[in-house]
Amino acid sequence: MKTKLSDIIIGCMSWGIWGKDFSTKEMDELIHSCIDQGNTTFDHADIYGGYTTEAAFGKAFSKTGIEREQIQLISKCGIQYKTENRDNRIKHYDYSKEYIIWSVEQSLKNLHTDYLDVLLLHRPSPLMHPYEISEAIVQLQEQGKIIDFGVSNFLPSQMELIQKEISITCNQFEFSLVQNTAIDNGTLDYVLKNDIKAMSWSPLGGFFSLETEQASRIKEALQPMLEKYNATEDQLLLAWILKHPANVIPVVGTSTIERIKIANAAIEIKLDLQDWFILYEASRGHKVA
Ligand SMILES: NC(=O)c1ccc[n+]([C@@H]2O[C@H](COP(=O)([O-])OP(=O)(O)OC[C@H]3O[C@@H](n4cnc5c(N)ncnc54)[C@H](OP(=O)(O)O)[C@@H]3O)[C@@H](O)[C@H]2O)c1
Repeated sequence: MKTKLSDIIIGCMSWGIWGKDFSTKEMDELIHSCIDQGNTTFDHADIYGGYTTEAAFGKAFSKTGIEREQIQLISKCGIQYKTENRDNRIKHYDYSKEYIIWSVEQSLKNLHTDYLDVLLLHRPSPLMHPYEISEAIVQLQEQGKIIDFGVSNFLPSQMELIQKEISITCNQFEFSLVQNTAIDNGTLDYVLKNDIKAMSWSPLGGFFSLETEQASRIKEALQPMLEKYNATEDQLLLAWILKHPANVIPVVGTSTIERIKIANAAIEIKLDLQDWFILYEASRGHKVA
């Protein structure tokens, strides 16, 4: 992968109308604070905020005075969502050459930039064709409109399908102590084996809003570790992901600068092997075989 991503990626899904609805000034300040702390990679998708959040971020970024090269922008394409500003009859995926190129050009315009550091296909489509996708990606790369190309939420067979025509450098998928099917469905094995950079979305797995038996077991298992590691619950949840040998980069969703600082400090926590399994057992509700 050509792009050097920050150790913790800042997810921007809730910066706009799908969440905090920050003003331009608030976004400007948050972008500065993130960069001051070394969080230079920002994760977007065309659909965030019903196709509005990239533009809100782009407007704010253009006012920061920060050089474009100081940050890395990830964005995604492919989800066609039913919304006022699009003439879609149903939510669907579109990976035609024309749509991918059009969508990236929209993202560039909205983000006030000439290039995306990373473009991801947001979700696998049952109708995607690797040849058509590769034609779009090669054209975008030749024109300098994207640097790295990757996927999101793709299983090993789907990554292989795309790689028949074009290499992928990264996959962004859900992975947390709460939701770790990536261990069982082969995704983590595949990215490790093929040197594909892994990023995990929802790295906290909704832990703080869950009222499930699984969340209670995890909470109980975390208690003695809070003191042992002098860490908070969210730091231990991140440390659990970070121990995986695939070197997964968390894409954190908080837009609270204090919580971003807490997430950054989680990088230093080295979870003991058996503590990792204590938490894994709490997540699964049973011992490993
Ligand atoms: N590729 C994909 O398909 C896909 C799908 C979903 C998301 N994403 C990306 O992944 C990013 C992160 O997803 P996510 O938002 O689900 O991530 P997350 O980091 O697991 O969760 C963030 C949520 O947890 C809350 N939180 C964090 N620390 C907390 C604490 N100590 N106590 C209570 N609440 C706490 C945050 O609230 P506050 O904001 O108030 O701190 C926020 O609501 C998104 O922004 C997006 O960029 C990608």
